[in-house]
Amino acid sequence: MDAGVPSGQERPALPRCFDEFGPHVEGELARWLPSEEEVEPTLARAMHYSVFSGGKRVRPVLALLACRAVSGCFRPALAAACAVELIHTYSLIHDDLPCMDDDDVRRGKPTSHQVFGEALAVLAGDALLTLAFEVITDEGSGYRADTAASMVRELSRASGARGMVGGQVLDIDGAGGDLERIESLHSMKTGALFSASVRLGALAGDADQLQLESLTEYARGFGLAFQITDDILDVVGDPRKTGRYRGSDEEHGRKTYPSLVGLDESGRLAREAAEGGLDALSGLSGSCRDLEELMEFVLHREG
Ligand code: IPE
Ligand code: IPE
Ligand code: MG
Ligand code: MG
Ligand code: MG
Repeated sequence: MDAGVPSGQERPALPRCFDEFGPHVEGELARWLPSEEEVEPTLARAMHYSVFSGGKRVRPVLALLACRAVSGCFRPALAAACAVELIHTYSLIHDDLPCMDDDDVRRGKPTSHQVFGEALAVLAGDALLTLAFEVITDEGSGYRADTAASMVRELSRASGARGMVGGQVLDIDGAGGDLERIESLHSMKTGALFSASVRLGALAGDADQLQLESLTEYARGFGLAFQITDDILDVVGDPRKTGRYRGSDEEHGRKTYPSLVGLDESGRLAREAAEGGLDALSGLSGSCRDLEELMEFVLHREG
């Protein structure tokens, strides 16, 4: 890996809707995280550390945009958006552990296990994972019981053996790879949580079946484009912008798009996936400008 440790991370240029939604997302996350008075202080600190270490909040923004696309209002999706970000944060804490990707730096800061030790990092991840389901089902989130049950089903499926966790297992296995296998790995490891983001947002906005399907198809293209660019950034990204070392994937023998088809073809496949996702927006009535801008961002992001 590169010798240079990224110190801090330059905030990437994000689409306008991030400015609009950002304060709402931060406020909602702060509202649900336990304080040092409520739980063991080191656990509270470890949870706060990773949740507020500079994540872009792409998944919450997707949930809020999906809700607004189907209902005209983003607010009903705030708790669901927060739940998805909690799961994402847990997945990153565990992904960085020595037994997984063994990464010391994320978002330009030491990873959780570097600061709190491995045992607490594992437990902070566990606590964030379980908190996500508390948030969805808590009365304070205001979801009807049937909506909350659908959200729990969607989110647990997307996070577990059929989704993110299953994808992580395929990733660390590293066994032979062709494009079909890696696409399926990416769709589980990364895509499932993006699909859950839009689906939870859409459920919060009482979407109909056609809207749900269109948004899911959008997220499918989005997720693949997102993970392909993540793989590309692992090879050529500027550590000051990504907040991470380059070369983690190669060091661990991960099968990635660049390792299989090279950087140029990876870029082309990311664009193709994005275009497929954008086509699906025709199934929604009304303006989808923010969802279109978000897809553009994913293709050209530097961090
Ligand atoms: C990184 O996701 C992990 C992947 C699934 C590729 P993000 O790039 O959304 O991470 P943060 O939360 O903004 O740091
Ligand atoms: C992990 O993918 C995605 C998760 C499910 C956490 P990566 O290992 O490529 O994510 P980064 O590159 O460390 O963010
Ligand atoms: Mg990994
Ligand atoms: Mg990793
Ligand atoms: Mg990566």
